[in-house]
Amino acid sequence: MRVSGRSRDPRTGQSRPYPSAVGNDRESRALNRQVWAEVNAQFTDGEADHAWTSDAISWGLFGTPESELDVLGPLLDVDVVDLACGTGYFAAWLVRRGARLVAVDLSAEQLASARRCQATYGPGFPLVQADAERLPLACDRFDLVVSEHGAAAWCDPRHWVREAARVLRPGGRLVFLTNSLLSALCVPADEGPAGELLLRGQRDVARVQWSGGGVEHHPSHGDWIAVLRANGFVVEQLREIYSPAGAHDHEYYGIATAAWAAQWPAEELWVARLADARDVP
Ligand SMILES: C[S@@+](CC[C@H](N)C(=O)[O-])C[C@H]1O[C@@H](n2cnc3c(N)ncnc32)[C@H](O)[C@@H]1O
Repeated sequence: MRVSGRSRDPRTGQSRPYPSAVGNDRESRALNRQVWAEVNAQFTDGEADHAWTSDAISWGLFGTPESELDVLGPLLDVDVVDLACGTGYFAAWLVRRGARLVAVDLSAEQLASARRCQATYGPGFPLVQADAERLPLACDRFDLVVSEHGAAAWCDPRHWVREAARVLRPGGRLVFLTNSLLSALCVPADEGPAGELLLRGQRDVARVQWSGGGVEHHPSHGDWIAVLRANGFVVEQLREIYSPAGAHDHEYYGIATAAWAAQWPAEELWVARLADARDVP
């Protein structure tokens, strides 16, 4: 998720730019950890209590209900891993519906907020500090991999999709939400929400560092299909998420206003299934 434009010094209101060139994966990860520690102090820790105490499962910037999207499938007695779980609220919603959860995130600060909420509200489930590109989890262990504004934006698709495939059982499902490709093409370079002009080339956002933000990945739709298929997935759905009627702008994440997202999808939800015997002709 693009957090630029909101990654500001809370005292001065000035955005705090990071180095514009990020040389390698190690530096990107360090930068992204720094960004998410800062976002946690500014927003996610404070928001976590509200999210943990919500009942309904919802997705993304404008809280689109799972009851409307119906992408997760049955959750009772299902083994699920939440990749880049942040403060863990999405995982908590699934555990309350009977799923057995492992939640993974790179950020010690995000996981500290998750632990605080677990202790206050429950339920308990394992919270693992790890890189979604190198999961410390066994092969063939899960029925469902979920990630809401998590691995898809913040990890290299070649690595995290391979890991998702490795930990899933044959026939297991991968469901992830990320910013739309279109929104990444239309956000101003410095800060502010997406506008009505294409501001950069499609290939320029496959890996991109925003001013005041971290290193993100916004592959084209063709590239998503290619990396999913290369790792043994069958693509079942690509849902384009618009803001609902009457939606308000998100209070923190500034990538797209509710008005923009009513016209163009601000987010995309992918559903894929790891091929199994059904797929062998
Ligand atoms: C937007 S939060 C997602 C959590 C939650 N679903 C949400 O919408 O707030 C993005 C999370 O990605 C995590 N993250 C970034 N890079 C990661 C990596 N390489 N491996 C695991 N988690 C990562 C960050 O620490 C952050 O908690």
